[in-house]
This record gives sequence, C-alpha cells and structure tokens, in this order.
Amino acid sequence: MRTLQVKQPGGLDKLEIVEQPDLNPGRDQIIVHWHATSLNYHDYLVAIGAIPVPDGRIPMSDGAGEVIAIGENVHQFKVGDKVMSMFFPNWIEGKPSLQKTVGIMGETLDGCMAEQACLPVSAVTAIPEGYTYAEAATLPCAALTAWRGLMVEGNLQAGEKVLIEGTGGMSIFALQLAKMAGARVFATTSSAEKAERLKAMGAEAVVNYKEDERWGKTIFKLADGGVDHVLDVGGGSTMKQSIEATAIGGHIASIGILSGGRKGEITFPKLFFKHLTMSGIAVGSRVMQEAMLAAINTSDMKPVIDKSFGFDELAAAFRHQESGAHFGKIVLEW
Ligand SMILES: NC(=O)c1ccc[n+]([C@@H]2O[C@H](COP(=O)([O-])OP(=O)(O)OC[C@H]3O[C@@H](n4cnc5c(N)ncnc54)[C@H](OP(=O)(O)O)[C@@H]3O)[C@@H](O)[C@H]2O)c1
Repeated sequence: MRTLQVKQPGGLDKLEIVEQPDLNPGRDQIIVHWHATSLNYHDYLVAIGAIPVPDGRIPMSDGAGEVIAIGENVHQFKVGDKVMSMFFPNWIEGKPSLQKTVGIMGETLDGCMAEQACLPVSAVTAIPEGYTYAEAATLPCAALTAWRGLMVEGNLQAGEKVLIEGTGGMSIFALQLAKMAGARVFATTSSAEKAERLKAMGAEAVVNYKEDERWGKTIFKLADGGVDHVLDVGGGSTMKQSIEATAIGGHIASIGILSGGRKGEITFPKLFFKHLTMSGIAVGSRVMQEAMLAAINTSDMKPVIDKSFGFDELAAAFRHQESGAHFGKIVLEW
C-alpha cells in the first residue's frame, strides 16, 4: 500500500510517497482503506515543518474510507462500512484532558494520507448518509470545529446572529450549520467575488476586512447591536475586531491564528463590560462528532468543495490553499 510521508525538516518538497506492507488488524482493531482526505490549516503547518513531527510521519487529520478487515471482538463495524476519522481519536466523550487530546491524527499519530490504516475501533465514526468519501473527508476537523463553536460551546438558538470570518473550510461550514439552525449570518472576506458567493449562501451582510480595518464596528452596526456568536479565525490579527462586533452577552469561539495572529492585544474592559464569554476550541470529541452527523443526516447540507486533487498531488493542493484562492474545502481523492 502507498503512504505519503513528511520527511524532515518538512516542506512541500519533502512530501514523499513510500510503499509499505499491507496491514492486518489486531483485537479490537479495524483496517480502513482511506479513499479521500481534506486540507486543514493544521495539516499545512505539519507539512511545512511549522509543527514538528517525527521523520516519516503520515500527515492529514481528515480521512474517509471503507472498512476492509476487522479484528477479533469488533462488533461496531463490518467489512464494507464507510467510515471517517476523528481529529482526536482518544477523545470519546466528556471534558477534554491531556490524555484524551495528546493523540492527534497526522501530527502525534499517523494520519490519513495512506491507502490503509490500522485503527482502534473507537477511532472512526460512520459517515453521513449519501455522502461521497470526498464529502465525508471534509468533516472531521473543519465541520466539527464549527459545530462545537456554535452548538456545543455557543448553544446557538434560532434567530441569533453569527459572524463568520473569511471563506476557509471551517468558516463555510459555520455558515451552513448556522443557517441550518435558523440563525442570521454575517461574514467578512477579502474578495468581492467571494462576498457574492457568501450572500448567495445566505449571509445577510458581508464586509471586506482588507478595505475596512475597523470591520468589527461595521458588523456591530449592520447587525443592529452586534452579533451573538463569533468564530474567530485570526487570533491576534482579528480578536480586537471580533470583540467589537459582538453584542453584549455574546460568545466568541477562539479558533485560529490566521494572518500571523499568534499573539495580540485586546481591550479588556470591552470583554467584561460586554459580559462576553470566550471559548478556546480545538475540534471536538467523538460524542460531538456523532451529534453533528445526526444533524447532518436530517438536513440536506453538503460540503462546499472548492477543488479536488489526486493522491500524488498533496503539495499542489497545499499550494492552492496557500494562494488563498479557495472557497470552502480542498480535497484529495484516490
Ligand atoms: N481550533 C481548531 O480546532 C481549528 C479547526 C479548524 C481550523 N482551525 C483554524 O481556523 C482557521 C481557518 O482554518 P481553515 O482550515 O478553514 O483554513 P483555510 O481554509 O485555509 O482558510 C483560509 C481563509 O481564511 C481567511 N482569512 C485569512 N486571514 C484572515 C483574516 N485576517 N480575517 C478573516 N479571514 C481571514 C481567508 O478568507 P478570504 O479569502 O475570504 O479572505 C482565507 O481564504 C485556521 O487558523 C485554522 O488553524 C482551527
């Protein structure tokens, strides 16, 4: 079977296809033939060496595929079942802990850029009904993060106002999930063309964050007193404006550090005089993934796939992501 590995010190020219022997399942294990993966910013950081991994690590946290063998004592899945990965395969339920979250697919554990993987039976879930492998492979990181930020930590209610930032995979899922829940969606983007696409998907107002540096205040006004929920993707580069955009009593999910926002300043009185709640979010648990799947199964939501590449085109796919030209998810299928 083919695997794709990150060779040290990392870099898009250090991704190497390596043949390995086929796998056999042990007790409580399954063999999954991955057929698709999708790109997340976290995978990009692993690939370029910004998140250090051991030499030969198989990257990519997202995967969807077919169970091709089951070990002794496996009753949850049978050969032929379609399954998808979990970002934290050891976080089944309850609050996060170090033990539950130290294992990360494609970082501290081998990921899905392989034709076969041997996994504990608890490390995958079913895929939504009627989804292709490529569609299912978009969900485990980006969609679950949006789901947790809005539904689990944010307790989003119909009629509430949500701000999504940019048009990457996570933000587009957030728009779709918010609309599914009957919420009103506001958005930012750097592109006039993408603004039109956001409006066509149901965003009621879109602000260009490059043309309007004080976009937080603009969103606050457009939303008539601010939004109830923000999914912040820029950290230090967006949080100040995210706080401006939020209504009194609102919730901000801190999700990413795009545009170099590892560190930043915020105006603390705005936090407390606005009575804001802030949650740090890193994907979610198996129980959260199953709840999201149940919701998707009762909806007609399908992921927005920007472009699809082949197994040997991961570097090209990351270069497409680097360009920022994409809208929604980039996938690889094989
Ligand atoms: N914490 C978690 O569990 C978790 C999970 C998933 C993702 N994330 C994080 O969420 C962020 C987005 O991830 P992704 O995979 O969706 O990335 P992605 O698909 O690569 O998203 C890139 C998009 O983000 C937008 N963007 C860049 N800088 C921005 C800024 N300053 N303000 C607003 N939008 C900006 C751009 O949209 P436009 O082209 O429209 O301007 C860009 O196309 C990343 O920081 C990622 O690490 C975190």
